[in-house]
Amino acid sequence: MQNRFMSALRGEVTDRRPLWIMRQAGRYLPEYRALRKEHTFEELCASPELSAAVTMMPMERFDLDAAIIFADLMTPVSALGLNVRFDPGPVLDKPLRSAADIRALKVPADATSIAPEVPATLRLVKKQLDPKANLIGFAGSPWSIAAYLVQGKGGKDFIAMRALLREDPVAFGHLMAVLTELVTGYLIQQHKAGADVVQVFDSWAGLLSLPDWELHMRSHLENLIGELNRAGVPNIYFANAAPHLAEAHASLPSQGLALCWRTDLGALRKKLGPHEGNGKALQGNLDPACLLAGPEAARRGTEDLLSRVPARGHMVNLGHGITPEVPMESVQAMIDAVHGEAPAN
Ligand code: CP3
Repeated sequence: MQNRFMSALRGEVTDRRPLWIMRQAGRYLPEYRALRKEHTFEELCASPELSAAVTMMPMERFDLDAAIIFADLMTPVSALGLNVRFDPGPVLDKPLRSAADIRALKVPADATSIAPEVPATLRLVKKQLDPKANLIGFAGSPWSIAAYLVQGKGGKDFIAMRALLREDPVAFGHLMAVLTELVTGYLIQQHKAGADVVQVFDSWAGLLSLPDWELHMRSHLENLIGELNRAGVPNIYFANAAPHLAEAHASLPSQGLALCWRTDLGALRKKLGPHEGNGKALQGNLDPACLLAGPEAARRGTEDLLSRVPARGHMVNLGHGITPEVPMESVQAMIDAVHGEAPAN
């Protein structure tokens, strides 16, 4: 039996390209919205039974090749003693604003105490999931978690975090090291609990120039991905809104690189060379707006993506999360377009 998703990540020939959809377990699903009438988001995340049920919702409705565990980007930060609520995005009681705030953070010595509900959820999902489908664990990148910890809530350019980096690069580097250790321990626990592969979401990856990224970020991401590789945890790095960093991101030691819709994935594949040559699988990157625009636009957009990106080493996905207003018919049209592609030769 072939696990299409893991095979494609390794660059093997598959009968067709695998597909999952970022944010597939969420508010566009009527069954998720119904459950949310009875429970808050925090209640869903705290309960392994409810989180497992939400993880399985898109798998029951659609023929997808991977399930992603239902949790949030901020889930592991409670292990640092920080309190997060959702309104609807993450909001911190006490944002980190000084070197003293950062020095006070402590990563638990025992990684099993980091958000234990998430490994518990993975164990439950693993039992229910069709063995042909793969299970994806995830965490935010240190940078994208820090964006919320320093700013205190969502934003568009996270200037408080960028100011902290400029004001005190040493303290900022310490924050990156703390979050790298937290995320590494958390992802290794997820792998032990049944995640076949983990995805690091760098939702705010695009906020630094290339020279600043090289100076302040590369080493932390190399440490994180290097630790996962040493622990034998297959991994995908997702960079949102950062086409100016695509080649730098491709040089990281992750097995997969997922990109948002702003990058021409076909052109990047040409630049990097085929998977057989460089071992890098690519994931993405249909504009989520194609799904919002309806089934016909979803089909056209997907077919165009398939025609531009070679099948070998490609996992089909959106370029960012599916939006709550997307009709079910658009999701089905995307799936049908992927399933309908003639087998690769
Ligand atoms: O299906 C899946 O992808 C798994 C579930 C998942 C959630 N959050 C559930 C969620 C995943 C992978 C995330 C990651 C996440 N969370 C990211 C990285 C991915 C990205 O989109 O870039 C980020 C930046 C967050 C932070 C966050 N959490 C925001 C900004 C919000 C509110 C607005 C939004 O985008 O939904 C949340 C809340 C959240 N996380 C919801 C869900 C289903 C909505 C909560 C609700 O039901 O009200």
